[in-house]
Amino acid sequence: MTKPNHVAVIMDGNGRWAQQRLMPRIEGHRRGIAALRTLVETARKSQIRNLSVFAFSSENWKRPEDEVQALMRFFVAGLKKEAVPLRDAGVRMHVVGDRSAFSEDLNVAIDEAEAIGKDALGMHFNICLNYGGRWDIVQAARALQLEGRTIDVKSLEDKLCMPWSGPVDLMIRTGGERRISNFILWQAAYAELWFSEALWPDFTAEDFDEALSWFEGRERRFGMTSAQVKA
Ligand code: IPE
Ligand code: IPE
Ligand code: MG
Repeated sequence: MTKPNHVAVIMDGNGRWAQQRLMPRIEGHRRGIAALRTLVETARKSQIRNLSVFAFSSENWKRPEDEVQALMRFFVAGLKKEAVPLRDAGVRMHVVGDRSAFSEDLNVAIDEAEAIGKDALGMHFNICLNYGGRWDIVQAARALQLEGRTIDVKSLEDKLCMPWSGPVDLMIRTGGERRISNFILWQAAYAELWFSEALWPDFTAEDFDEALSWFEGRERRFGMTSAQVKA
């Protein structure tokens, strides 16, 4: 069976992981970065061509100021630290989302990290920061409107934030919740959905492999009958 071309991951449960250990929530985010490193390595080994992760949603600004600021510091430090190792592993990193709200520091770190990885060919790695699925659709529609173009499925799709990655085949959410929380909406229209009870810092390479094996057993019908798909 075919493996997914595009895997999207909602990395949820960092705060609960920390709280269960009587640690500050931010410690859960720190451990979440380690789990993300494992995810990227595992996806690379599994020859996944496109990996998108939800690191900060357009709604996460509503969190306490100290948590938001700590996350922003992690993003800057993480981009600086990981840009070269990612490139060396063949990973082309993109930050996807509304960058207008970011600090100068973060915008510079993003530009530098993206420039370092621009020629890597192994895997597109989309880090969704200040991203929301509804925002993405609106910005695409606005771009078409500005150009005076007709809005149809194809033209709108081309204006979405990460056209290089195509439709999401497999969406994974950890942390036990069964919701999309305004992550990739349009491109996930036919995604297979995998929910894991594991809190994000506990999500392992084996957990990812389990999701991939499950995906390979799905019959994707895209509206057709099973007999049509088999023919
Ligand atoms: C997801 O973990 C990470 C971010 C939103 C940045 P949470 O921080 O949402 O963890 P829980 O859901 O509170 O446990
Ligand atoms: C989704 O998780 C966002 C990220 C993982 C970055 P949330 O924890 O923000 O989602 P809700 O609020 O529980 O729906
Ligand atoms: Mg959460």
